[in-house]
Amino acid sequence: MATTSLTSVEPVTPANTRLGWIGTGVMGRSMCSHLIKAGYTLTIFTRTQSKAQPLLDVGAHWAPSPLAVASQSDVVFSIVGYPSDVRQVHLDPSSGALAGLRPGGVLVDMTTSDPSLAVELSSAAASKSCSAIDAPVSGGDRGAKNATLSIFAGGDEPTVRRLTPIFTLLGKVNYMGGTGKGQFAKLANQITIASTMLGLVEGLIYAHKAGLDLSLYLDAISTGAAGSKSLDLYGNRILKRDFEAGFFVNHFVKDLGICLRECQNMGLALPGLALAQQLYVSLKAHGEGDLGTQALILVLERLNNISLESASSSME
Ligand SMILES: NC(=O)c1ccc[n+]([C@@H]2O[C@H](COP(=O)([O-])OP(=O)(O)OC[C@H]3O[C@@H](n4cnc5c(N)ncnc54)[C@H](OP(=O)(O)O)[C@@H]3O)[C@@H](O)[C@H]2O)c1
Repeated sequence: MATTSLTSVEPVTPANTRLGWIGTGVMGRSMCSHLIKAGYTLTIFTRTQSKAQPLLDVGAHWAPSPLAVASQSDVVFSIVGYPSDVRQVHLDPSSGALAGLRPGGVLVDMTTSDPSLAVELSSAAASKSCSAIDAPVSGGDRGAKNATLSIFAGGDEPTVRRLTPIFTLLGKVNYMGGTGKGQFAKLANQITIASTMLGLVEGLIYAHKAGLDLSLYLDAISTGAAGSKSLDLYGNRILKRDFEAGFFVNHFVKDLGICLRECQNMGLALPGLALAQQLYVSLKAHGEGDLGTQALILVLERLNNISLESASSSME
């Protein structure tokens, strides 16, 4: 396949750009499937190979390391777990993607991670005549499945523009500014979600105690001023006691921890963020870090010694 440099002006297409992907978990698996459907050649690596199998079955190619992915790709995306994973998959000198990328190649990290690590990645990439974009996402597992993610991109603007045809296959890209600005936007997004989730579960606890039908209640508020994407994504899951992770508690605690450290650097007091972080840490303390973030209801149930379970069983 004839490939072009990402610094050229030719639009990115499946005919001229080979894609690599690291991390095929809840988000990555769905995102990759859109790229394959659009006709891109996709080489993938993820820690647990069995999680790549559904994508290998529909035409993705397996590579044994991030370095091997990069050596067969012009643009390498990652959506892994924690900043330490981002560092490992991109910067490890013997197995990381940057060690295998040819000059002109691009790394796109879509993990929710540290803004300072985005800066470090970008300068490491520049020293190899490559570039790096931070492009974390919001919209949950459903947004990944339906290709309706909000993508917050930071880094060189022309590179983001050139990659826009790919981002558009996953959702809507928003250019936020220079390197790290994508991560800062995502962190502000998480600060907003933290208090929104707390409001959602507190409203449910109150409505339950007041004897309301919770299904009717959620339906009624969803089109008013209390409506939210969090309610749309998680309201019914809470009522059905479906705590399977679309978005892991462990990852939210990671995000809120990064937010709090950034607040400390900035001299910011954000009490809603701090409170939500403490309540989510309490889920981890109960061994519930692998549940989804909607499990916050369990914390409020324990605080009040009540359970919505009776309300949800009467729905069935
Ligand atoms: N889920 C959401 O709703 C959502 C929304 C927006 C942003 N995010 C963020 O996106 C990231 C991924 O979330 P997710 O829900 O897709 O998590 P996930 O299901 O755990 O997926 C991450 C995948 O990356 C793999 N991985 C982790 N570290 C790796 C490493 N060092 N080398 C190779 N592969 C590695 C994991 O392998 P294993 O399978 O072996 O663990 C896993 O398959 C997180 O930073 C999260 O905060 C999630």
